[in-house]
Amino acid sequence: MEEAKSYFSRELLAWYRKHKRVLPWRANRDPYRIWVSEIMLQQTRVDTVIPYYERFMDRFPTVRALAEAPEPEVLKCWEGLGYYSRARNLQAGARMVMELYGGEVPDDKTAVAGLKGVGPYTSGAIMSIAFNRPEPAVDGNVMRVLSRYFCLEEDIAKPATRVGIEKLAASLIPEGAAGDFNQGLMELGALVCTPKSPSCLPCPVMEHCAGRIAGREHELPIKTKAKPPRPEMRAAVIVAGTGGNAGKVLVRQRPETGLLAQMWELPHVLLTKEQERLAVSAIDPEESAELGELLTRAVEEETGLLIRPKSWLMDTDHVFSHIHWKMRVIAADLGDPAAIEAISGSNQEDRSIPAFLAAESAASYEPDDSTDGSRYRWIEPEDMAELAFPNLFLRILRDYWSGDSEE
Ligand code: ADE
Repeated sequence: MEEAKSYFSRELLAWYRKHKRVLPWRANRDPYRIWVSEIMLQQTRVDTVIPYYERFMDRFPTVRALAEAPEPEVLKCWEGLGYYSRARNLQAGARMVMELYGGEVPDDKTAVAGLKGVGPYTSGAIMSIAFNRPEPAVDGNVMRVLSRYFCLEEDIAKPATRVGIEKLAASLIPEGAAGDFNQGLMELGALVCTPKSPSCLPCPVMEHCAGRIAGREHELPIKTKAKPPRPEMRAAVIVAGTGGNAGKVLVRQRPETGLLAQMWELPHVLLTKEQERLAVSAIDPEESAELGELLTRAVEEETGLLIRPKSWLMDTDHVFSHIHWKMRVIAADLGDPAAIEAISGSNQEDRSIPAFLAAESAASYEPDDSTDGSRYRWIEPEDMAELAFPNLFLRILRDYWSGDSEE
């Protein structure tokens, strides 16, 4: 065992130093840069992260720049990366570093582990990569590599297994080389010891890999399955503006807290069990009318605005960690104001369009409590450069504006 361990440490370190990829966060050991990279790399592939990372570092090159930025700008810079609480926590952490440590990420494990959004993996990565402290940095990739090399049978979904693997990983760190060794483990997991088809032949530690010797490299690690994300049927509406709002669509901002907090989206509703059929079945005129009615009522309740549903636009979906949104999107307009007047007659007051929605630009609209924390705006394509939208809505709006899905 001891021989297998020292072999692993020695060979992996040598391999990493020879083969490591040139990546933007490896240019220096600035702890802030490493911190940002490790947060972005959680749940996201290196190739996806690189352009985001470069943009983010251009825009927020220091802890101070990030701490002082308006939150919407940070979210905008993160748009498309997903898991947006990472961005909010990162900024909250940067603000802590300003307040508590004068803007310098401290070379102190307890202090780093106490920063908002920094868990055991991230603190280990920052301490080892930036400060070369002998701390383990164990994520799913590292658990896979070590489970295979040592032929460990424990379920890596269990917290106790992670704790055990952290101890093992700490004991493997070669003297004075924590940063390179930990990055070597990550690099091996990313390039060689991959989840589905490990490439054992070029692996620097193949000779003593107990998993491979036992012919079990494909079965390891053992991981009990997480519950599949819970499906939620939703229906959204793209409302095309008229008059001063021609060419614009109606969007709203999500509440301050919770899933996708403060991001922008199309108005939409969560369908009840009984309503789900309206969003999953083939397009049927009667059901479309029912769905249209549902959305009309929802938009009217929140804004006072009377929309006129016109046609089905698309079905699309997005999987979050615990929820699977399945979204049917309907196109609507505001109808003909003269017709509304004719229909509503003396009721017209109730149907009147609120000033903020009828105004040329709703940008200055300030919500009051009656809007349930939602904020509505009319936007045109150029406004997308400032507001952060989740991927799902970006896709819908881009399609809509590029004409791909217009009737
Ligand atoms: N995945 C997580 N951290 C990483 C890093 N520092 N380099 C490459 N891939 C990683």
